[in-house]
Amino acid sequence: MDPESERVWNEPMKTLLHGADYNPDQWLDRPDILDEDFRLFPLAGVNTVSVGIFAWTRLEPEDGVYDFVWLDALLNRLAESGMQVILATPTGAKPAWMSQKYPEILRCGPSRVRDLHGARHNHCPTSPEFRRKAVGLNTRLAERYGKHPAVILWHVSNEYGGECHCPLCQEAFRSWLKKRYQTLEALNKAWWTDFWSHRFTDWSQIESPAPHGESFIHGHNLDWRRFVDAQSLDFFLTESAPLRKISPQVPLTVNMMGTYPGLNYWSWAPHVDLISWDNYPPWHNAQRDDIAEGAWTAFVHDLNRSLKHGQPWLLMESTPSQVNWQAVNRLKKPGMHRLSSLQAVAHGSDSVLYFQWRKGRGAFEKFHGAVVDHVGHEHTRTFQEVAEVGRDLRALTSVAGTRVPAAAAVVYDWENRWAIDDFAGYSRSDRDYQGACAEFHRALWSRSVACDIPNQDQDLLGYQLVAAPWLYLLKPGTADRLRAFVEKGGTLVLTFFSGWVNESDLVFEGGFPGPLRSLAGVWSEELDPLWKGQSNKALPVPGNDLGLTGEYQIATFCELIHEEGSEVLATYGEDWYAGRPVLTRHSVGQGEVYYIAAKVDSRFVDDLMGSLIRRVGLAPAVEGLPAGVVAQVRTDGTTDTVFTMNFNNRPAGDLPSYGVKWEKRPKKAGG
Ligand code: GLA
Ligand code: ZN
Repeated sequence: MDPESERVWNEPMKTLLHGADYNPDQWLDRPDILDEDFRLFPLAGVNTVSVGIFAWTRLEPEDGVYDFVWLDALLNRLAESGMQVILATPTGAKPAWMSQKYPEILRCGPSRVRDLHGARHNHCPTSPEFRRKAVGLNTRLAERYGKHPAVILWHVSNEYGGECHCPLCQEAFRSWLKKRYQTLEALNKAWWTDFWSHRFTDWSQIESPAPHGESFIHGHNLDWRRFVDAQSLDFFLTESAPLRKISPQVPLTVNMMGTYPGLNYWSWAPHVDLISWDNYPPWHNAQRDDIAEGAWTAFVHDLNRSLKHGQPWLLMESTPSQVNWQAVNRLKKPGMHRLSSLQAVAHGSDSVLYFQWRKGRGAFEKFHGAVVDHVGHEHTRTFQEVAEVGRDLRALTSVAGTRVPAAAAVVYDWENRWAIDDFAGYSRSDRDYQGACAEFHRALWSRSVACDIPNQDQDLLGYQLVAAPWLYLLKPGTADRLRAFVEKGGTLVLTFFSGWVNESDLVFEGGFPGPLRSLAGVWSEELDPLWKGQSNKALPVPGNDLGLTGEYQIATFCELIHEEGSEVLATYGEDWYAGRPVLTRHSVGQGEVYYIAAKVDSRFVDDLMGSLIRRVGLAPAVEGLPAGVVAQVRTDGTTDTVFTMNFNNRPAGDLPSYGVKWEKRPKKAGG
């Protein structure tokens, strides 16, 4: 493990952070506004601000001409007021003079057309000029502020993402491929390039995937995604090198975007000191109710906590009221702000931070929610709800640095997702890998059973119950890790779409689920996708020891499997494959493997997981909570803090609509 990742976050402060992105660089001609901000910070219970995220033009107004006067004054004033600062590097957006002077820093799209200057999050990660400019400014920031008493954390850039197809990136892609494959022959083999005569005879023939060029070689697409991830990470490492060197005592983070598909955050996690992410759930929307939204949000919180193996993380951004980029940007109903803020803490966050402190007067985000509205004072509903969360976080100070113990896990894997999203065949519209993972997670969450979200590279030995749905792409070592987990007594749930391709997206020979076949005790011979409106049924075998009864609906995917040493627990009810297995169990070593052959409805996943939770003996954090009310525990090893949260828009149990409470209790033995 990278020694950098061993730093202990939050050690000196032992506090939960409460605050926001703060952009006084948009108000430099308004000292009265700055004065107001400092009057309002304590009223909102805010102790931390993230500064300088998009301030490059104010820090380097001309090439090589730096202005730190305003930032010096600001940071000093923040320090004097007892505030903590998360200081950003400003590479999330570049100055116009820079794009004009060094056009190579502008990104090219897949069509190879170079972007004009504008927007943000759009630099070329390869450009030596952009790297030179970033390192130049970051070096000065580190020298000037690396020891500043207010600065507690580096916020490197902002929401890295996107991809560049410029000539520099094409060259970098080829170099990356040469390193990965050594020989062109190895690449041709891995990409199966004799298909449609796509064999490469020289490295220079290889281009990034393009709508007007190559997009049909799955291994190529997969490697491009890996390259984009690696190249973005390489840029991050380059721009953060001066911070590491000059201010090694200041930890560093990047703000991530949940399950954003463009990057594999597992490759980033070892290189940051703590994980942080930006969370904007569309509460109160028409597509899914708040319980489902709460479940999904919990999934992503759990994923972020898992990225650094349970270390506390930061909620870097959230909105105090509404956002401005959803189709309809609803207000949070009373209570929801407090509930969604404390939900993050319950799942391991050591902060509640917002975008942003004060609404700007112009441009794209002028109607995005902020702590301070255009009206300018503290007498708003939003400000008062923020202040209430501030009081909560102060009362919860002892939670800072504590952990969320989990004995269950759902495997979610980016590379697997890339491969599933890309392949042609069966049916395309229903391929919702995230949704499948979230369904298993929800069955745990709704029962107040804590859950981690590892990827397929992680060791699973500490868990008792693991679901690894749709593990289509299997990397070397994964099957062995899953087997070791089961042999030592673990319970594993696998599904259809498992063990189809290797890490190059080449199909496994010898029958699905490939390297998992002997572990699952099934051979999957065929897959029958269903049209929308078509269905089948899963019929539990009468008297099965899981207590599954009645019938469940099947839609979209039906695998036709043969049991090979496994026991059948449910069968298809209809069509020509009626009577063939839908659910099997295979005993391996001291553990068990369940295989679900079809896309059975959520009720089935919920009932099965409920039954397995009891079978393996996982205790809920709190027993007997009403539907939509869930509990989650943080522990320091001696004392548990138990959060109970009501995601119903009505009172439930002893909680009001969207109510949340916490209580302390001695840690449960063995929990
Ligand atoms: C992202 C960005 C912020 C802001 C918010 C708005 O998370 O990082 O700068 O644009 O979205 O929701
Ligand atoms: Zn580029």
